[in-house]
Amino acid sequence: MPTRDEALALLHEWVENEGLRKHMYAVEAAVRHYARQRGADEDLWGLAGLLHDLDWERHPDEHPHRGVAELRERGYPDDVIHAVLAHGYPDRTEVPPETELDRVLCACDELSGLVYACCLVRPNGIDDLTPKSVVKKLKDKAFAAGVHREEVARGLELIGLERNEHIQNVIDGMKAVAATLEVRAVDRQ
Ligand SMILES: [Fe+2]
Ligand SMILES: [Fe+2]
Repeated sequence: MPTRDEALALLHEWVENEGLRKHMYAVEAAVRHYARQRGADEDLWGLAGLLHDLDWERHPDEHPHRGVAELRERGYPDDVIHAVLAHGYPDRTEVPPETELDRVLCACDELSGLVYACCLVRPNGIDDLTPKSVVKKLKDKAFAAGVHREEVARGLELIGLERNEHIQNVIDGMKAVAATLEVRAVDRQ
């Protein structure tokens, strides 16, 4: 299995946009958090989170198929490839989320974007962010309008957790990489 360093090098090669890179780090961190919580293979799950949007910048029209082709060529595990395909279901692929990793990735993808946006408008960023304030922004459709609310809802259904619990997990996961994401109070001064 490729190492995280190799995956990171691949990400840097394919993705120049810092915002998109941060999105991948955020999703990776949230997915890793779930892997730890559930006793799953954290490194394996992390690869899926880190690389799920690998081709988004270069080949948006072919997302995620070009990325998947690259991952196949480089010998990435089938579980990672399946999860990357499943996060594009149903609009872009015909691979529905089935495995636990598939479901967790889908559930963290869009929600992490909303959590990130919440951090950016708060003086203390992620430090004192609660599910309650994220839910408030979730209901405010004008806030971070690029975050698809129906995708967040679908993710919740897939992961099968209570909404606040899932949001708290994503916050906790992202806190682990808060310095990289630059979402702490000290980053906001
Ligand atoms: Fe994607
Ligand atoms: Fe994504």
